[in-house]
Amino acid sequence: MTPDNQLDLLFDPSLIPASVQEQLGPDLHLRPLASDDHKRGHFDVLAVLTAAPQLSPKAYKGNFDELKACPGTYFIIVIIDVSSDKIVGSGSVIVERKFLRGTGLVGHIEDIAVSKAAQGKKLGLRIINALEKIGESRGCYKIILDCSEKNIPFYEKCGFKHKEYEMVRYM
Ligand code: ACO
Repeated sequence: MTPDNQLDLLFDPSLIPASVQEQLGPDLHLRPLASDDHKRGHFDVLAVLTAAPQLSPKAYKGNFDELKACPGTYFIIVIIDVSSDKIVGSGSVIVERKFLRGTGLVGHIEDIAVSKAAQGKKLGLRIINALEKIGESRGCYKIILDCSEKNIPFYEKCGFKHKEYEMVRYM
């Protein structure tokens, strides 16, 4: 596995909760997304969510740099299989600053994905635990997400409860 200090990471790795890393054990490593994670199967993992066509390394880095240019906003994490240096799970929390609630912060959880072969081993739960802790450490007063009906039991196991409805209009 490529050590964290040899990677261009999206955010400060000290924000990764040590307690979640401990629960993952020594064979899996939790870290922020790196600028060259396209080589570690990022798109293969994202493909469990929806169409995730590969980007060229240049386009991948360009998108990464845009996210990194908004400090304190985009927190994308990945779980790496240490022996293969491949991504087996990923997820993100986007921190939105509001004018209401005294400029309160809301965390939006997005794109939770665990590779098919690694599903059912609590990696999804660990990703959510880590994102919640990151959101909490940034000062979010709540964390919200949208999901399909079939994933409701998973998020309930993670401690979320159903509230409101999602609306969408595709452009
Ligand atoms: N129905 C019922 N229970 C479930 C389901 C489900 N679909 N999925 C997980 N669980 C339960 C597990 O049984 C486990 O319960 P337990 O603690 O009693 O044993 C608990 O939830 C935690 O499950 P994990 O093992 O952590 O789940 P996994 O690692 O497989 O990750 C995930 C779940 C992320 C939904 C994964 O299956 C996946 O990547 N699916 C495809 C992509 C997807 O749908 N992502 C979510 C999109 S919504 C969003 O991104 C905001």
